[in-house]
Amino acid sequence: MLLQRYRDSQRINHWLIVLLFLCAGLSGLAFFHPSLYFLTHLFGGGPWARILHPYMGLGMVIAFAFLAAQMWRDNRWTDVDRQWMRQSGDMIFGGHKHGTQPAHKYNAGQKIVFWIMVVSLLILLVTGFMFWHAWFPDGNILMRRVAVVLHAAAAAILILTIIIHVYAAIWVKGSFRAMTRGTVTDTWAAHHHPLWHKAVKERPPA
Ligand code: HEM
Repeated sequence: MLLQRYRDSQRINHWLIVLLFLCAGLSGLAFFHPSLYFLTHLFGGGPWARILHPYMGLGMVIAFAFLAAQMWRDNRWTDVDRQWMRQSGDMIFGGHKHGTQPAHKYNAGQKIVFWIMVVSLLILLVTGFMFWHAWFPDGNILMRRVAVVLHAAAAAILILTIIIHVYAAIWVKGSFRAMTRGTVTDTWAAHHHPLWHKAVKERPPA
């Protein structure tokens, strides 16, 4: 039996974010170090990469804001997450002494990833505006330098977080179909998100 996890609009939005993340990320890396400058070829050369990067980044943040507005409630920290964290050692190092980990729609690990995405994208947005020369006059030079460092640090944190996010999506077998087909199996839900599974089962049919 299959359970609905994401609507079509949420999945389209998610994959749009992925596309914009790759474009903004690759063009941003091209400016990070000369050895990565070749990446600008993907965007039509240096000047085009520089012109397009802020628009692609802004597009990613706006698309993410729509997704986050629908998901933040399910990512609030609860006692269940504290228990999940206490048992996470079992999961990583094997054993599962305590049986299945408790989790609602998202487990504590996913919630941490979600909030890191929110904070790092906010920092990228605010600091990016501070040195978007095409639209905003150059302000204080020191402020701009601090903004550039924070922008690069937030980007590095976001990239590492997305690597963890993708690794987890592959590692937890059966998760991928949630974002490709919108559904998960009954067994997957009962095993990985038992409290969400129970709530979905108890919900009266639409
Ligand atoms: C190739 C890259 C990516 C893959 C393969 C991927 C895969 C997935 C999968 C399979 C899920 C469903 C997990 C579940 O329902 O348990 C998911 C959820 C999600 N993804 Fe991605 N994703 C990628 C990139 C991104 C990026 C770049 C962002 C944002 C910057 C993002 C944000 C989210 C969010 C917010 C959720 C909902 C989970 C939550 O709120 O904790 N993903 N992703």
